[in-house]
Amino acid sequence: MRFNPITILRKKTANTHDMPPKEKLPRHIAFIMDGNGRWATKRGLPRSAGHAAGTEALREIIRTCSDIGIESMSIYAFSTENWGRSAEEVGALMKLISRYFVSEIDELNEKNVKITIMGELDPFPEEQKASLVNAMEITKANTGLKLNIALNYGGRAEIVRAARLLAQSCADGMLKPSEISGEKLSELMYTAGQPDVDLLIRTGGDERVSNFMLWQGWYAELIFEKTYWPDYSKATLIKNLNEYASRERRFGKVKK
Ligand code: IPE
Ligand code: IPE
Ligand code: MG
Repeated sequence: MRFNPITILRKKTANTHDMPPKEKLPRHIAFIMDGNGRWATKRGLPRSAGHAAGTEALREIIRTCSDIGIESMSIYAFSTENWGRSAEEVGALMKLISRYFVSEIDELNEKNVKITIMGELDPFPEEQKASLVNAMEITKANTGLKLNIALNYGGRAEIVRAARLLAQSCADGMLKPSEISGEKLSELMYTAGQPDVDLLIRTGGDERVSNFMLWQGWYAELIFEKTYWPDYSKATLIKNLNEYASRERRFGKVKK
């Protein structure tokens, strides 16, 4: 536990909800980590302080998901639309992302976490791109939690990319249009080989998907959590997992 001011600001008493049994847990959880800016503004701090506090919450949640045996965890760190923010905020986010990869990679690797970056990395500066590619390279043989980090990510862009790859295969005579299937598209998503998203949690109180995992989230259970991301804790996650465990997933069929 680090005792920096942000850790202390985030600290709150854990509630007593218990984790649901393993068979009631989602295989794949996606997080839209929203509310950093409002968390900071409420405290009279710059928005960047909210993003910094958000990384503390993230550390706790990755550790928890890894410890309870979640197969896949996807996190929305920076969207294709987030470039539209002020240069100051984008700059602060980029710095934080770079630092995050440097400071966390050893612990993630030790925890057997396998990192996948979802998104188009070309717009990132060379040095930063190298640290992202390095994170994937170092952890590629790991067999624990699959951690998908969405950076410069858009759900539509991901589907467009898959469509282009399919079109190219057809043009090259490797694939017939009639052979295109949902499974083929899934194989071309960043999450190839992973289960679809079972549970999508958005913090911060807004109730929308904001271009996140449109393909993989087709049957996801949605939870809109009011807590701002920097205040999100293991206790909040346990509460959300209990809500998920109580839901009936029908996938278009009728109740048995
Ligand atoms: C989410 O928090 C983090 C990123 C988009 C990088 P916001 O920065 O969107 O925080 P709010 O929604 O303005 O409070
Ligand atoms: C979604 O949050 C993106 C991330 C959490 C990285 P936004 O704050 O960008 O979403 P909107 O603009 O409110 O839909
Ligand atoms: Mg937001």
